[in-house]
Parts: sequence; structure tokens; C-alpha cells
Amino acid sequence: MVLFLDLAKVNNRFRGEMDERIKTVLDKGWYVQGEENERFCRHFAEYCGTKYALGVANGLEALELVIRAHDFGPGDEIIVPANTYIATILAISRNGCTPVLVEPEWDTCNIDPERIEAAITPRTRAIMVVHLYGQAVRMEKVWALAEKYGLKVFEDCAQAHGAMHQGKRAGNLSDAGAFSFYPGKNLGCLGDGGAITTNDETLFLKLKALANYGSDRKYHNLYKGINSRLDEIQAAVLDVKLKYLDADNARRREIALFYREHITNPRLVLPQTWDEKAAVWYVFAVRTEERDAFQRYLADKGIQTLIHYPTPPHKQPAYAEWNDRSWPITEKIHREILSLPMSPVMTAEEIRFVADTVNAWR
Ligand SMILES: Cc1ncc(COP(=O)(O)O)c(C=O)c1O
Repeated sequence: MVLFLDLAKVNNRFRGEMDERIKTVLDKGWYVQGEENERFCRHFAEYCGTKYALGVANGLEALELVIRAHDFGPGDEIIVPANTYIATILAISRNGCTPVLVEPEWDTCNIDPERIEAAITPRTRAIMVVHLYGQAVRMEKVWALAEKYGLKVFEDCAQAHGAMHQGKRAGNLSDAGAFSFYPGKNLGCLGDGGAITTNDETLFLKLKALANYGSDRKYHNLYKGINSRLDEIQAAVLDVKLKYLDADNARRREIALFYREHITNPRLVLPQTWDEKAAVWYVFAVRTEERDAFQRYLADKGIQTLIHYPTPPHKQPAYAEWNDRSWPITEKIHREILSLPMSPVMTAEEIRFVADTVNAWR
């Protein structure tokens, strides 16, 4: 059986180091907003190349807080890819703003920068890009539009820890980047966790307060904030795993390259990258019109796959107001996409078995 992602195997590589760091937290008896959080955030900011990183409770709240900190609300529109995990869009809705969905490029599945301008109105306040499947969005056009129309740019980096764009990392390509450390992510903790990166000190301080009951200093509440913090155990675990992120991403790139060189089945469309360094291959998503049959075939052969994602956000009951509308490229991607096993702990035999089995599909 080839698992899609063997999380125990991923984490057990660092078991000794993680045990030790967790023990330190337990010995100290300090569980929230302590040294581990401070250390990890410093290291994560250094890694991303930003001045600041703030640990928060999860990726959804990281996104929500970024919007909230700009005081965007009802009447404000935020441009967002139609082809994303629903959390990106929920973060906009939960601030009372209007998400304006833009279709993706067919080759990378990321938001199509050429379609953004047509979606801009006098109410547009920001462009929220998503570096989907681990690949950085081509940002030049996004930046140019933001400048032309006076918009903020935010990044959803939940799938793109370490992805590069012309020498800079995801999270350092906009006003603020939002990360998830959900266990299956390229950098994942042992539960829920998230972070926000930025180079803007004022924004950072506001985010820090907003995530801590709106408190800018102890028992003084400047904003009606929330409680969204990264706890000490998760921060300690992440600080251990961060050291290995580049090596893990390099291994993902090797696997992706192997798949791209060895999978020759003409019934499949393979994922494309606009720059090898841009992609950290959170998932390796192939496409075929007979996706469900292909998934069943692989399952019969002992290969576990996942669909990222089966239903587009605009077809979800939660967004009933959009259910009758169509974003056809997004819908086609959702119908055809299938993610093959991808993780830094896959063996050479497993990778070859996946490629050979995929090629043998008739
Ligand atoms: C693109 C994207 N955005 C946001 C999120 C939300 O992150 P979290 O699950 O940590 O809330 C996820 C992951 O689940 C994601 O894949």
C-alpha cells in the first residue's frame, strides 16, 4: 500500500528532537506566549525573509486577521481565486467583505493574473493570491495592478512554505502572508497552528494585539480582538521541523521531477511549473477526464490518492448565493484533478511503483 502521506513516518524522523523540546515545555510549565513561540517566530521570519512573523492558532484565522487588521468590512471587495480551498474565501466573508472570484490559469491552476483587472471595481480593496498546490503565483502583474489601483496584496501561503518567487519566499511577496501549519502541510505541527508574516511594523503590532483579545499591553484592550495564538508545544515542534523544511522541499522537487519525467500516460495532464524553484509540491495534482475511474484503478493497485478539491467553493451549500453561477475553468479543474502520493518520506520503490502503475492505466 502506498499511502498518500504517512504522517507518522514524516514526524518520527524528528522524534528524539521533538520529545526533548516538548519535555522542556512541560518542565517549564509555560504553555502559551512563551520562549518557544518567540523563538520559532523569529526563525520563521528569518526563513521567509520578512521582518516579522506572528504565531496564530490556524491558517483560517491567519487569513482573517490579515483582513481584519486593515479594517476592511461590509461593502469592501477582495479579489480571490475561484480555485482555492474554501478557507481563503471564508476569511473574506467572515470579515463581512465580498469575495470576488477570479478564474485560474489552466497550466498552474493559480489565479490568472490576466483576469484580475476586469474584476476590479471602485470597491476593491485587496487582492488575495493563493500559492496553490505549493506553487508561487506569478506576482508581477498582481503587484502592478495593486500599484495602479491602490490595492493591498495578501498571500495565502497555507500550501507554499518555502516556495520561491525570483529569489524571495512566499510570505514575503505582499503586504502580509498567512500560513497554516495543519499536520499535512509542508511544515506541519501536531495539531492546528498558523502564522502571519509581514515587513510592516505597524501592521505586525496591530495583528499581535488583534490575535490576543485586542490587547496591546496587559489588561488594556485597544480592539475587539480574538484569541488566536500558537501554543508553546506546537511552536517547539515547528522550530525543530523548520530546520528540515528545505531538505524536505528538495525531496518533494525530486519526486515531482521523477513523476514528470517518468509518467508518460497520454491520458493524463501533468502539473506544470513556471520555475522549478517556485514550486514546493504540496501536492502533485494530475488531471484526467476520467478522474473517478483513475482513482478507483489506483486504489485497486494499492495507491492512495486525494482530490484537492472535489467541490469548488462556489458550489458549496455555504455559498448558496453562487450555486447557480459558473466559473468553468475552476469547475473543470475540480472535476479532473487527482493528487498522487507526495511526501518527503516516500521510498524510491514507492515513487517508481506509482509512476509505473499510472503508466499502465488504459
Ligand atoms: C489554501 C489554504 N488556505 C487556508 C487553509 C486553512 O488553514 P487551517 O486548516 O490551518 O485553518 C488551508 C488548509 O487547510 C489551505 O489549504
